[in-house]
Amino acid sequence: MTWHRIASLHEVEPGQRKVVQIEGKELALLHTDRGLWCIDFRCPHTGGPLGEGIIAEDEIICPLHKWKFQLCDGTHNRGTACEPAGVYQLRAEGDDVLVELENVKASSDNASHPAPRQ
Ligand code: FES
Repeated sequence: MTWHRIASLHEVEPGQRKVVQIEGKELALLHTDRGLWCIDFRCPHTGGPLGEGIIAEDEIICPLHKWKFQLCDGTHNRGTACEPAGVYQLRAEGDDVLVELENVKASSDNASHPAPRQ
């Protein structure tokens, strides 16, 4: 596993988000009232700006066609219409937030919740 620093713990306040690019991936770091999450910025449906979507509890709603994606595993409410969004494990190390670029769903130690709790 290779972890990449994407923010400081206090850089993204609750309710805020940060878009980062690492190794060709565009990711959205989201700070919700349930913690920090990391998901592909681009929607797997037709490439809408999923990372700019409205967050409602454990879901993010893509602004383009309003599909709902689970923040914990990237699954959506449209069955097999397309692949889930990529979601990524996070951990805190000191004041840094680190991400592991292997998709949580593909990870052998699949985390039930990728976000460090505060
Ligand atoms: S592009 Fe996101 S739901 Fe269609």
